Amino acid sequence: MIQYVTLIALILTFLLLLGVIFALQRVAKTRPDGGVVGESGFTLEGYSYALIFLAVVAAVGICYVVVRDTPWAGHIMEWLNIVVRLMHITFGIAWIGASFYFVFLENALNRTDNVREELAGNLWAVHGGGFYYLEKYKSAPKVIPKSLHWFKYEAYFTWLSGFSLLFVVYYFNASSMLIDPRVLDISPLAGVGIGVGSFVAAWLVYDGLCRTALVRSPWFKVIGFAIATAFAYFYAEVFSARAAYIHFGAMLGTLMVGNVFFTIIPAQKAMVKAATEGTPLDPQLGKNALARSLHNNYFTLPVLFVMVSNHFPSTFGHSYPWAILAAITLGTAGVKHWLNLREKHQTDTAVWVLPAAVALLLGVVFVTAPPVQDSAGAAASCTQEVGISQVNLIVQKRCVQCHSAKPTDDVFKSPPNGVVYDTPEDIIRLKDKIMQRVVVTKTMPQNNKTQITQEERDLIRCWIEQGALNK
Ligand code: HEC
Repeated sequence: MIQYVTLIALILTFLLLLGVIFALQRVAKTRPDGGVVGESGFTLEGYSYALIFLAVVAAVGICYVVVRDTPWAGHIMEWLNIVVRLMHITFGIAWIGASFYFVFLENALNRTDNVREELAGNLWAVHGGGFYYLEKYKSAPKVIPKSLHWFKYEAYFTWLSGFSLLFVVYYFNASSMLIDPRVLDISPLAGVGIGVGSFVAAWLVYDGLCRTALVRSPWFKVIGFAIATAFAYFYAEVFSARAAYIHFGAMLGTLMVGNVFFTIIPAQKAMVKAATEGTPLDPQLGKNALARSLHNNYFTLPVLFVMVSNHFPSTFGHSYPWAILAAITLGTAGVKHWLNLREKHQTDTAVWVLPAAVALLLGVVFVTAPPVQDSAGAAASCTQEVGISQVNLIVQKRCVQCHSAKPTDDVFKSPPNGVVYDTPEDIIRLKDKIMQRVVVTKTMPQNNKTQITQEERDLIRCWIEQGALNK
């Protein structure tokens, strides 16, 4: 049931958002004041692309409904995952690349040497075998050029594809991926509702804060970080740890795209309009947009970490996953801060920023390390020798439901990550990963669906500590 609901919701979301984007474009194009210059508008080409895109989404949806509960379901989900993930990474690279590039431009502008009165600064660059010369205007140029490039679709499509990926990976399989009954036993629908609702709530809190005078105070960063940590804590108290991390990243990503959609692009449109009509320009508009775009720049590295975090159970598998997430957020944002200072040649007064950020990240490495066995404790728990047959029994009881060439689990119809434990040799070959997932981080069995006990985990640890022998 949840699959149908989420699938329909996904398609409707796509339709709605595409409709909104195209409707806005159409309004922009037909506005008599010509307020928006250089936008492609509502062209036949754009219309065809939209149709093709919608047809693909609909085809995938229909496909999924048809193959549901057949052996093809897992296969279709995997390809849906591949396609949407690739789109998400590609748009994300374009967006974050542009963010890095423009913040670099802003930081590295030559503002003093031979700069014309109307300019804020200029910059020479060489790239790809050519010389480039860029100028930034203090406000708008006297005449708005016919072709003016905007940067927004990479942001919108990063968010749309990311939101879809959230459905494909977490919401379609909410009971096994999103919800961990050991954390909080909620219904899949409630989980999806909390997830989506939290993004709206985060935007309202953040946007509200940005509209107060606080945004210009240094306390803004402190309060902003405290609120972000509160969200990390909330997610960790509601969802499985993996899903909590992804929701934190998706929440920041939502703030980023909200900044583009609700603040930066409207401010730019108003600036273009004022310049075209020759009406005075409100300098605050540009400043607000620049501030939001800087916030986005600081969000980039934490969001990138979250994107890859799922590969690293020592982070989300920690007993305080939200604290690890908060520390890495602070550390990576600190690295970005240092990079920005360096581009402005201000690092001589703030050299400490990079070492402080790195020290924090090293602290995380230290905190997430597996507990060092005190000799007494370890000896006590591994008194007798553990053989492979004992370990095999545990694995056959707790793991092969999913990790088998022919899984019997209700969700995983093919072995996750291709990992199978059908024979003792399989277990020996993958002992290091088993140690990491079952003993150290306790992130396997997934959400402890097969209810492994601590004694069984200890037996596996003893077997590995005794050399993981095949006897
Ligand atoms: C309910 C299904 C399920 C059960 C039961 C389960 N796993 Fe997993 N396992 C998964 C999924 C899904 C993944 C991939 C996602 C991830 O890495 O968290 C995975 C990934 C892994 C990985 C990482 C593989 C890699 O390439 O990084 C290891 C190791 C692992 N499982 C070991 C085990 C062991 C050992 C057990 C039994 C004690 C077990 N799993 C029980 C679903 C399960």
